[in-house]
Amino acid sequence: MLENLKQELTDQINNANSLDELQQVKVKALGKKGSITLLTKNMKDKSIEEKKILGQAVHSLKEYIEIILKQKELFLIDMKIKDDIKKDKIDIFLPGVEFHQGSLHPLTITRNEIEEFFISLGFEVARGNEIESDEYNFEKMNIPKDHPARDMQDTFYFSEEELLRTHTSPMQARIMERNAPDKPIRVIVPGKTFRRDEDDLTHSHQFMQVEGLVIDKNISLADLKGTLELFARKMFGPNTQIRFRPSYFPFTEPSVEVDVTCHICKGKGCSVCKHTGWIEILGAGQVHPNVIKNCGYDPEVYQGFAFGMGIERIAMIKYGVDDVRLFYQNNLNFLKQFDKLK
Ligand code: DAH
Repeated sequence: MLENLKQELTDQINNANSLDELQQVKVKALGKKGSITLLTKNMKDKSIEEKKILGQAVHSLKEYIEIILKQKELFLIDMKIKDDIKKDKIDIFLPGVEFHQGSLHPLTITRNEIEEFFISLGFEVARGNEIESDEYNFEKMNIPKDHPARDMQDTFYFSEEELLRTHTSPMQARIMERNAPDKPIRVIVPGKTFRRDEDDLTHSHQFMQVEGLVIDKNISLADLKGTLELFARKMFGPNTQIRFRPSYFPFTEPSVEVDVTCHICKGKGCSVCKHTGWIEILGAGQVHPNVIKNCGYDPEVYQGFAFGMGIERIAMIKYGVDDVRLFYQNNLNFLKQFDKLK
């Protein structure tokens, strides 16, 4: 009888195809109501002699079954691992997971490029404070309290004297005062500026400018034009031309607005340049004698030119961006496009 049971259990163990099936066989044999367990329990009615013989036989059957169960279990685990590896096999032709590296912000890229250009001409790069005094932001720049030009630069005031600078021009005065009365100056000042404008396609209450200032003897508009021509070619391509249009700024005389030939249509006229062939990029001029004098130089001996450009505007033209707010919204889809640029 034990032989039959042994054969039966051995067959079942051999036929078990999964760990689950094997577990069921194990329970049927060795569980609380398993066939081998029951054999032990049924022994209590037998005589001592019988118990001895049967006990040994059941014990060795139990041992045997436990061993082949263990062997089969190890075999099935091994099979399962091999099977999992087969299913999980590495497809070396699958594209890899792309890791996005952070990139510089387009305004930083543009600012760096502007800085590199002017450094190559021998300019220094200075930075100023975003909080300015009314005196430097306006008075020293030849814009007294009742001057209409103050209306063009709607200002965030902290107090009557303190404000968020509306342009980088006050740094002209600060740098001139540091170098007066006779050191020549070649400097650019990039930085943040603020105006109480409603944000729209072309306005942002926070924006960036680069101020330029040259002070020396015998500086003329021709120097300004030559410098800006080289700059325009560097930023917008070698065939770019520039033109001066007469304009007005309180701190320059004469004042000009500077246009570049449209880099899209190369000057023929298209929707980007509103069919004029030209795009305005900055304001500039000869530094006003009042400003030179206010800051400690003798305007009879020293002249200079200055310019101020919006970095957003340069970046918008360069990269074809049509909404200035995109620069400040931290939209990754927009920013990722600049991954490849440095
Ligand atoms: N500060 C002027 C503005 O924010 C820009 C400007 C114009 C700066 C002419 C200059 C300049 O240095 O010469 O609108």
